[in-house]
Amino acid sequence: MTEDLLQAGLAQTTLHPLNLRVRHAVGSIITLEDGSELIDFISGIGVSSFGHGNPLITQALKDQIDLHLHVMVYGEMRQASQDRAAKLLLSLLPDALDTVYFVNSGAEAVDGALKLARSSTGRQKILAVDGGYHGNTFGALTVSSNEARKAPFEPLIPGIEFLAWNNVQALDAIDHTIAAIIVETIQGDAGIRIPDQGWLLSLREKCNETGTLLILDEIQCGMGRTGRPFAFEHFDIEPDVLCLGKALGGGLPMGAFVSSKSRMKQLANAPALSHITTFGGHPLPCASAAAALQLLKDLDFQHTERCALRFEKIVSAHVLVKEVRRLGAYIAIELPDEEAVNYCVQHALTQGLLIYFFLSTPCAFRVAPPLTMDEATWVRATDILCQTLDACASSMR
Ligand SMILES: Cc1ncc(COP(=O)(O)O)c(C=O)c1O
Repeated sequence: MTEDLLQAGLAQTTLHPLNLRVRHAVGSIITLEDGSELIDFISGIGVSSFGHGNPLITQALKDQIDLHLHVMVYGEMRQASQDRAAKLLLSLLPDALDTVYFVNSGAEAVDGALKLARSSTGRQKILAVDGGYHGNTFGALTVSSNEARKAPFEPLIPGIEFLAWNNVQALDAIDHTIAAIIVETIQGDAGIRIPDQGWLLSLREKCNETGTLLILDEIQCGMGRTGRPFAFEHFDIEPDVLCLGKALGGGLPMGAFVSSKSRMKQLANAPALSHITTFGGHPLPCASAAAALQLLKDLDFQHTERCALRFEKIVSAHVLVKEVRRLGAYIAIELPDEEAVNYCVQHALTQGLLIYFFLSTPCAFRVAPPLTMDEATWVRATDILCQTLDACASSMR
């Protein structure tokens, strides 16, 4: 399989890529070149949340292609697609988050947010949290917690320390020397870890007391994934800086960091062009994001909750399942061991269902279907998964 990739001149990212050949994808279904169909139960890791080939998104892209593509490096020319995306995004956010910087990826959004924190506070130290995953540029990697993934690339960025997750006492480390703390509101790669509201409230309070910026990374858990437009809405807190990506671009590459005007103006004058990125705010992802944000506004969250709750009840009753962690359609299924997870991912594929691994949580697999998936497809996917779990249990006997 790997040789196949390399022979085509494509770099490999793992020794065992899925290497499926895609013909097209519509709604919740991916059709392969051999004509077989897969139910997409992971949305390309939380990207295709509004379904593949969503007509609103594809029409917005076609309209934009007819107008113009790249005209000038981000920030120099006013482009209507950027205005539309910004207006819709900010209309969904608290008043204090009134300015957005569009970039190319989640990791770039994190890097931009970290730079903003240092430059707007004049402080250097940044805290992150055990179990967090924030991406793979040097900045984003440094604030991610998986040591084995970082070690080969050291030295990373200085001035970063880690706190225990969901631990109120650990928050004592936040003082007037700390520029920011970056936290995934709900940790994705740690296997969908949902924190106590008390911890997040204390974190917010501690940041207020010390002038430390609270950066929430909602690159994976934002954009409707958890049953509300943004995950922080479940906890009665607001961030100082919000990082977005993945589903934001409606299937096109895009990230964003959002904060207040007073902070964001730093990027223009201290120094000028503090963060500069040729393709950030590209008109195609912006047109697509504007359509995605409209879809987010109109999402039927109750429908997804009904389907996901039924799924949770059935799957958590299976003898092989140790735990289901879920908020909205952001789901981890914990199995007894890594082998069982491998078996299930491979077996489900042969039955037409795409589920997938976590990077750092080997004994669980992820489920994150398009938020537009209809009930019949949820039911079919649940049936296939239960048969897969049955087959796995029998194979272990
Ligand atoms: C929570 C979180 N932050 C940041 C990132 C990095 O985003 P990207 O892969 O677009 O750089 C990811 C990607 O999985 C993520 O899940």
